[in-house]
Amino acid sequence: MKILLAGGAGYIGSHTALSLLNSGHEVVVVDNYDNSSPESIKRVEQLTGRSVTLYEDDVKDKVRMLKIMQKEQPDCVIHFAGLKAVGESVQQPVRYYRNNIDTTLTLLECMAETGCKEIVFSSSATVYGAENSSPCHEGMPRGICTNPYGWTKSMMEQILQDASVADKELSVVLLRYFNPIGAHESGRIGEDPQGIPNNLMPYVSQVAVGKREKLTIFGDDYDTPDGTCLRDYIHVMDLAEGHVKAVEFCAHHHGTEIINLGTGQPYSVLDIVNTFQQVNDVKVAYEIGPRRAGDLPAVYSDVHKAERVLGWRAKRTLADMCRDSWNWQKNNPNGYKK
Ligand code: NAD
Ligand code: UD1
Repeated sequence: MKILLAGGAGYIGSHTALSLLNSGHEVVVVDNYDNSSPESIKRVEQLTGRSVTLYEDDVKDKVRMLKIMQKEQPDCVIHFAGLKAVGESVQQPVRYYRNNIDTTLTLLECMAETGCKEIVFSSSATVYGAENSSPCHEGMPRGICTNPYGWTKSMMEQILQDASVADKELSVVLLRYFNPIGAHESGRIGEDPQGIPNNLMPYVSQVAVGKREKLTIFGDDYDTPDGTCLRDYIHVMDLAEGHVKAVEFCAHHHGTEIINLGTGQPYSVLDIVNTFQQVNDVKVAYEIGPRRAGDLPAVYSDVHKAERVLGWRAKRTLADMCRDSWNWQKNNPNGYKK
């Protein structure tokens, strides 16, 4: 199949491109490098020995997207193109709504005009909100989001669902990611956050490599076994392989299917720090700080639907995730910059 990856030069997109190529699919990437660089795709080409058709364009630009879709005629689109920093979305809500919603609408319009009927969407566990208790399963209603980023995901899910009701030939898969971490085992591609990382694993790796002095653990007084929050961390290569299955499923399906991608196994912040130190034999200095606004004590997935519908389950361990994150960080202390 030929798959168009909107936002495919980013963290999850580049790993998915690699898995798709290794599974024999053709890959076209459209990215404006708002949060990435073409270097990730260059490395994917080196790792796979296959080439990727790469467009530097804004997915919101309908004139350009239509030309690309007409020329490439992809079988399926994967929509990764979004802004994703939670704190920034609170400061710049209009930019987040404009970018995330507009990319989705533009893709749907271009798909309708070019006859493409399959779309896989990067959603997030954040849409479960605080109302649903873990393990979160796909039958639960979406909850109240605590920030504009989360609302964009919730709204985009609704838009895609509505589109598939109106067009009975449309096949939509909404993938709700839990907490993707890790990197390809080669250490050649990985997560390259700009500025101070918001998420736990990039922060831990930057402390270990000496770029940051110490990690602040956001609260140790939660009602959890060690007092720190529980999350469902998933290796980005397991996630990438989940996308290959989702794309293949999408080809034989109509309507909207919501699927969690997680491991179902919760780990605490201290589990992450301790495992990272142990498997990599490095020190991660940390202090306990106050809780972060909006954090929930425990968020993890019910994984049965992914197993049943996609025949997929995550297989890599927390030790694999910590080892591969460190391998990427120590070999690329400045990310994709030289
Ligand atoms: P990322 O920032 O590394 O990748 C997103 C890519 O989209 C970047 O390459 C960026 O340049 C591109 N992009 C953004 N707006 C664009 C536009 N208008 N036109 C063209 N390209 C554009 O993020 P990621 O971690 O790879 O996440 C991919 C998707 O998964 C995002 O939609 C994100 O919200 C979602 N998601 C991520 C996580 C996570 O923890 N990483 C969790 C849940 C959901
Ligand atoms: C966050 C977002 C979520 C988004 C996801 C992926 C919030 C409230 N949630 O999820 O919407 O989909 O990222 O981008 O921002 N932690 C620390 N110290 C740090 C960083 C994190 O202790 O410096 C803790 C957090 O309190 C949390 C855990 O580590 O318990 C994981 O945090 P993070 O990586 O930011 O992911 P989430 O908060 O689960």
